[in-house]
Amino acid sequence: MTSRTGPEPSPFSPGYGRRPLVFGGHDEELAELTAVFETLDFGENQSVLISGLRGAGKTSMLAKLQDSAKDNGWLVISDDASAGLMDRVMETAVPTLLSELSHEARGRLTGLGIWQLNAQWEYVDRHREVKPLLRRDLVALSAELATQRRPAGLLITIDEVSSGKVRLRELSRFALEVSHAISEGANVMIVFAGIKVDLDALVEQEHTTFLRRSRELDFRRLTPRQTQHVLAESIHIGGKQIEPEALTLLVTISQGYPYLVQLAGDFAWRSSGSSSTITTADAHAAHSRAITAVERRVISRVYQDLSDKDQEFVTAMAADEGGRSKIADIVRRMGVSDQYVQVYKKRLIESGYVQADGRGHVVFSLPYLGDYIRSMTAEPSGAPVSDDWGDFPPPSAHAPA
Ligand SMILES: Nc1ncnc2c1ncn2[C@@H]1O[C@H](COP(=O)(O)OP(=O)(O)OP(=O)(O)O)[C@@H](O)[C@H]1O
Ligand SMILES: [Mg+2]
Repeated sequence: MTSRTGPEPSPFSPGYGRRPLVFGGHDEELAELTAVFETLDFGENQSVLISGLRGAGKTSMLAKLQDSAKDNGWLVISDDASAGLMDRVMETAVPTLLSELSHEARGRLTGLGIWQLNAQWEYVDRHREVKPLLRRDLVALSAELATQRRPAGLLITIDEVSSGKVRLRELSRFALEVSHAISEGANVMIVFAGIKVDLDALVEQEHTTFLRRSRELDFRRLTPRQTQHVLAESIHIGGKQIEPEALTLLVTISQGYPYLVQLAGDFAWRSSGSSSTITTADAHAAHSRAITAVERRVISRVYQDLSDKDQEFVTAMAADEGGRSKIADIVRRMGVSDQYVQVYKKRLIESGYVQADGRGHVVFSLPYLGDYIRSMTAEPSGAPVSDDWGDFPPPSAHAPA
């Protein structure tokens, strides 16, 4: 055993796809989906769409669902919606799942003539005489899982749904195969995650009727209570204490935005060094660093996800420093018709960027987006940059003869 001295490692995990130690909120949804893994009673949960802005916790939710499915004996296929999805699933994911099944199960499955297994019942190839279809793989695997002592199913998670034309076509082909498997009775749950506009574009594709009936989980902010729980519990598990006032300050800084909760907690933890208590001074020290980091890593990407017109809309909003904008002002600033602005407003509200706030007004639902836009559109200050290099100008390329 080595004894470690110095600061305790941070229990926070700021970063895309980094699972939080304490997962805040979404208890009801998690309980309902976990119940499906236990009972195979799918209800409205055969297909699920998880939408939310960047850093809202979609990938972390998928990871929770995968764990819960596996705990209940389910097989899990998880992939991103990038090109080659179907091939990866059929040529790598499914064979890997086969190899995890018992010898007897593999023996039974070869009888179906879908896969070619060798004498050790290991996957070799696909039988060539039939056109390989994902739906057959899923139906066969599901049938096998259903005969287990404890019947189980298959969870498929597809992250990073984005709206490139080619990708959407491939995704909808994938979804079609899954829907066929489901209509043939396979116990399959499929969960897609992405930003709202991209998921909407997917659902609009051909052959995705069954996705239109999906359950939608829209990830927004955590509540103040949930935020406080994530911070306090992480700090407790990490082995420190936090002054109540410092905790409240971190809740306020993070505004319940999951990525920012992790950043604020992490900076405060680091600021406390080897002390066993996180103080208000630590929380103050975390403030500006956390905001700078979230703007660079998250908010800038959130902004870039918007179309040019949507960007114009939020930029027109950002002119109101108070954070609340009158629709009539936005119409005037954008110099377009009222109906036109209504269309953008509706879309931005649906995708979680903006909230209606009283009649004829909107506010940013994502804290700090307004500040970010203002900082980008601010006139650069006239002062010359001084960085000490002024005293060392580059030598002329042509030295005088
Ligand atoms: N429910 C939660 N409670 C606490 N922290 C969370 C929660 N969900 C996510 N986080 C933290 O937030 C950050 C972003 O999470 P995640 O990568 O899951 O977001 P995302 O929605 O998938 O983002 P993107 O759209 O960019 O893929 C990570 O640091 C993660 O640890
Ligand atoms: Mg993600």
